[in-house]
Amino acid sequence: MSTSTASPSTNSPKPIHVDIAGKAIDLPVVVGSENEHAIDISHLRSATGYITLDDGFGNTGSCSSAITYIDGEAGILRYRGIPIEQLAEHSTFTETALLLMYGELPTKEKLNKFRGLLIQHEMLHEGLRQMFDGFPASGHPMAILSAMINAVSCYHPDVMQMEDDATFKSAAARLMSKVRTIAAAAYKTSIGHPIVYPRPELPYCANFLHMMYSLPNQPYEPDPDIVRALDLILILHADHEQNCSTSTVRMVGSSGANLFASCAAGVCALWGPLHGGANAAVISMLKYIIDNKIDLKDYIAKVKDKDSHIRLMGFGHRVYKNYDPRAKILKGQADKVLKKLGVAHDPMLELAQRLEEVALSDSYFVDRHLYPNVDFYSGIIMRALGIPVEMFTVMFSIGRMPGWIAHWKEQHDDANSRIFRPRQVYTGHTLRDYVPMDNR
Ligand code: CMC
Repeated sequence: MSTSTASPSTNSPKPIHVDIAGKAIDLPVVVGSENEHAIDISHLRSATGYITLDDGFGNTGSCSSAITYIDGEAGILRYRGIPIEQLAEHSTFTETALLLMYGELPTKEKLNKFRGLLIQHEMLHEGLRQMFDGFPASGHPMAILSAMINAVSCYHPDVMQMEDDATFKSAAARLMSKVRTIAAAAYKTSIGHPIVYPRPELPYCANFLHMMYSLPNQPYEPDPDIVRALDLILILHADHEQNCSTSTVRMVGSSGANLFASCAAGVCALWGPLHGGANAAVISMLKYIIDNKIDLKDYIAKVKDKDSHIRLMGFGHRVYKNYDPRAKILKGQADKVLKKLGVAHDPMLELAQRLEEVALSDSYFVDRHLYPNVDFYSGIIMRALGIPVEMFTVMFSIGRMPGWIAHWKEQHDDANSRIFRPRQVYTGHTLRDYVPMDNR
């Protein structure tokens, strides 16, 4: 394959001229608002017979999107243009959700209206509540969460069709609100406690903590600093452009599947330890090192040894080749939360800080640009807030919900959107005959 640039154009970049096995095509260049350049190959196969192959999609843009911008080399993350650091300092999870879904910070009136919808939809239908009795106590809350999100749509068939903005907004609020009630109910079921009903006067995170920790005979009054720490965690997880779970939501949504089915699929994709499951894996790793009194240098040596198949959990990222800006914020927050809770020394936080120090002065990590990611410190904070490890990835799901909803909406509203259908390079048998059972 030989490439050269075609004739110059004053306004848009020159198309890339590609000549493959005697067949030529000019591939348009698409430029994003942050000057990111992409080659549009959508007509490559029809013109040349060739497809592109990009295992793991490391070099493939699956869509254009105006929601979240990441510069992985510089460690920049912005929602709708606003730096994550500013949102972390000034915004709330509910406000950030509206920013992601609608593209602008809401007015006070719009925010209050949406809060009203969250309250309106916070209860579970009695039929849904009874479904919790059918799950075994040992059932993983991520399995329960994805099953229950799909089940919600059975009770609200209007969410199958999004004909106008009011229906969408109501469905989005229903999803964001119910996911929090479902998560807390899944936790209560897993420990054999009665499910606690939401309290409409409480804001989003305080209400969640109430449903998690109140007992019928013992109300839980959430501390404002703890509520704020949880709000911050959710804001930091709210979107991250085309990651594995969001791409899954868009993939499922591209077939025309409804918002609930698409987001339930997102929960399943998030569950894996290389994605949202990493926050729980970090705690298991730190616990393993502490319990077995493992020397850090020995552990790092194991991580570097490819045959061990051990990774330093909470480290590395497909996009960030610099410190994950979310991890930077959470690292500072971990200290604050622990102090607030009166924990002078947390062995896990101290170990995490030492691990980071050792790793960042080791050429293996430096050369590969492996830095702490969002999951490295988030688990330490959630653990300090009393959230059980099995619930960590559920917390990630609650946080990521506005992002998934925003991406589903963006795709749904795009008149040019097509069903996602990647191709493959087939490497199996060529034509052969069926062999009858007796001859095998
Ligand atoms: N520990 C040890 N080595 C690593 C790690 C790690 N955590 N991450 C990457 N590497 C090495 C990898 O072995 C490879 O080395 P080499 O070039 O010698 O073969 C090189 O770095 C590039 O790694 P990769 O696997 O090609 O990178 P990727 O972009 O496919 O994977 C990742 C990204 C996040 C899955 C990976 O870094 C990883 O497994 N990290 C640990 C799990 C984790 O923390 N996941 C949370 C990600 S952030 C939140 C989220 O997305 O949910």
